[in-house]
Amino acid sequence: MTGWHDPSPEVEAAERARRLFTATFGGRAEGVWSAPGRVNLIGEHVDYAGGVCLPFALPHRTYVAVRARSDQRLHVVSDQAGQPWAGRIAEIAPGRPHGWAAYLAGVAWAMQRDGLAGAAGRGVDAAVTSDVPVGAGLSSSAALECALAVALADLYGPGSGEPDDPVRSRIAAACVRAENEIALAATGGMDQTVALRARAGQCLRLDCSDDTDRAVRRLLLDLPAHGLDLLVINTNAPHRLVDGRYRSRRAAVEHAARLLGVPTLRAVASVAQARAGLHAVGETDPVLLARVRHVVTEIRRATAAGDALADGRVRDLAPLLDSSHASLRDDYEVSCPELDSAVDAARGAGALGARMTGGGFGGSAIALVTRSDVSAVAEAVTLAAARRALAAPSFLRAVPSAAAGRSDAPAAPA
Ligand code: GLA
Repeated sequence: MTGWHDPSPEVEAAERARRLFTATFGGRAEGVWSAPGRVNLIGEHVDYAGGVCLPFALPHRTYVAVRARSDQRLHVVSDQAGQPWAGRIAEIAPGRPHGWAAYLAGVAWAMQRDGLAGAAGRGVDAAVTSDVPVGAGLSSSAALECALAVALADLYGPGSGEPDDPVRSRIAAACVRAENEIALAATGGMDQTVALRARAGQCLRLDCSDDTDRAVRRLLLDLPAHGLDLLVINTNAPHRLVDGRYRSRRAAVEHAARLLGVPTLRAVASVAQARAGLHAVGETDPVLLARVRHVVTEIRRATAAGDALADGRVRDLAPLLDSSHASLRDDYEVSCPELDSAVDAARGAGALGARMTGGGFGGSAIALVTRSDVSAVAEAVTLAAARRALAAPSFLRAVPSAAAGRSDAPAAPA
């Protein structure tokens, strides 16, 4: 049996968040805001190395029903996560609170610090429901952050604007700070940028060479027009980015850049140049070189993939996806048996190309598939997992969707 995970219609999902709000806090929420999960087509583990990546937003979203408070407290509840959390914004600090609430508390803290949620520092009551699977490598954390961030910007700040409004880059930067400094996950900025800047039907070409303002180019992504679909395979092997492995990859890459005397590995032209540079300073660790090789070759692949999309050569993505996976598995060592099984089985059943997506160590893979083969590929992936006694995967349809914003019409003035 193949398990599909389809998103709820936006109106229904917004209503669900409203109901949770009323059941928890009493009265009515002032509005519901939401933000999408994402998949990254290619350009993995390069955002923090000044690289290029090609993410797009999923139709699966996280919804936050919100009401302004007159004091400086934050009260949050979620239908997905453990305990509700309540506290004063002034008490929010690195690692405090801990767990899921850190992503919301961090946003309240960072938006205020960055002048995006008014000077007075008023708090909110917020109830969260979500269609973005948690721990699936589909950016549920950024969806949570960005949904609250646009709510705060609309309620107290300058407004959240449209996806190309410069305020969106500032909101994205605040969300990244929330994740890095309060939730203590050392992630790059790809997820928050796509959650805030995506548009339906498009994938973004993010150039992360400027860390604070990732340059966005928009590329049409109409796979059905080419007889193709992108299948997202959630392996249901939980992935966590707050553990040390993501951080250690990032640290290795930053260490290598320092040894090479460049601001980021984006400045390295080739693997040979990196190898020579590292040898010149006495660094011969094969693991460090493998990490660098992944980043340098992945930036090249993502650049080629962006060019292919811009030229409408969609099928040219396939071999790039395959080599991206091999590089992430062998050089960067962020894959796992569940992801490898999904990728191999998808290819074996006729996918044109496949790879893990997101941070790895569990989570999801994507497969570029001829439309008529989607069910057969999904079945083959399910069967392969069962044969290896791995968790049963579930499947999402990756339709490029819209960025964060308000999900219900503001009430008409009385
Ligand atoms: C996570 C991080 C991103 C990025 C990816 C890997 O999703 O949040 O910043 O580093 O992993 O590409």
